[in-house]
Amino acid sequence: METLSRFLVFMSLFSGLVSGYTLQNLPITSFEESYTQLFGAKNLFVHKDGKSVRLTLDERTGSGFVSNDLYLHGFFSASIKLPSDYSAGVVVAFYMSNGDTYEKNHDEIDFEFLGNIRGREWRIQTNIYGNGSTHLGREERCNLWFDPTEDYHQYSILWSDSHIIFYVDNVPIREVKRTSSMGGDFPSKPMSLYTTIWDGSKWATNGGKYGVNYKYGPYIARFSDLVLHGCAVDPIEQFPKCEERAIEYIRAAQEISPSERAKMEVFRRKHMTYSYCYDRTRYKVSLPDCVVNPAEAHRLRVYDPVTFGSSSRDERRLFVGPLSNANSAESSS
Ligand SMILES: *[C@@H]1O[C@H](CO)[C@@H](O)[C@H](O)[C@H]1NC(C)=O
Repeated sequence: METLSRFLVFMSLFSGLVSGYTLQNLPITSFEESYTQLFGAKNLFVHKDGKSVRLTLDERTGSGFVSNDLYLHGFFSASIKLPSDYSAGVVVAFYMSNGDTYEKNHDEIDFEFLGNIRGREWRIQTNIYGNGSTHLGREERCNLWFDPTEDYHQYSILWSDSHIIFYVDNVPIREVKRTSSMGGDFPSKPMSLYTTIWDGSKWATNGGKYGVNYKYGPYIARFSDLVLHGCAVDPIEQFPKCEERAIEYIRAAQEISPSERAKMEVFRRKHMTYSYCYDRTRYKVSLPDCVVNPAEAHRLRVYDPVTFGSSSRDERRLFVGPLSNANSAESSS
């Protein structure tokens, strides 16, 4: 047993060296030292190791916690195990925001898990807002290559002054590059990290078609391996203090390597079900920060011609993708 675990540690260190940067090197923060309850205290349970947290949603309340510090840039990560079984309308969110400080012009970077209905996959939504750009919305949705209710999986956000990258199990699934045309829409003020579970009946699953059914509750989301590796802002000096190691990490990670980029493209080709960049019912012309990928555009058009623009009969005939049995009726709120 001992030998095996030593071997596994050795292997994980080794793979860390090969790919340059992995999570194994990053400090895991304990709940005590880094977080505070946000709401639903009765439904928040911290494991005695201080590093795992359970959030529950029942008919009385959801629950959540927030980082003690605000951060300007960094790498933020959690291992999350989502509620199993029927969970329509249940929203689990892992996100950064400064909505408490800036009511009118807040920033946000979101990972949102939008319940499921039995037999279908969970959907993940990513989104960003900058300086109160809530009238725009830059949502993307995807499904996953695994069942996120069966095990813990790592969900991470890298945020620098020029890039935002979303990762699932260290695979980049979305990259937002700051462009001058985005103006204030790129998140640029210090934010806290939030983790919540709540009742999103009106909105979450298929645009609110399926609400939370408490007969199947309570709904439990589990979190561990919480990483806050960034530049915490000193509350008095209002100045971000970065560890040299964090700066180096951010700088290296924001340059996606060719092999990681190839993985991202494969992911997006197989699993993306919605992107604001291709939604012709919302934006006649893509927002200027969109990098239009013809393969993605084509695939979404075939998947859902109403939202993404019609495709020719030939295109449809040629399409044999993993989405062919998925539901395309999702709409955004
Ligand atoms: C952000 O919003 C505030 C208030 O609406 C505005 O004064 C400021 O110029 C904006 N900043 C950017 C970078 O757009």
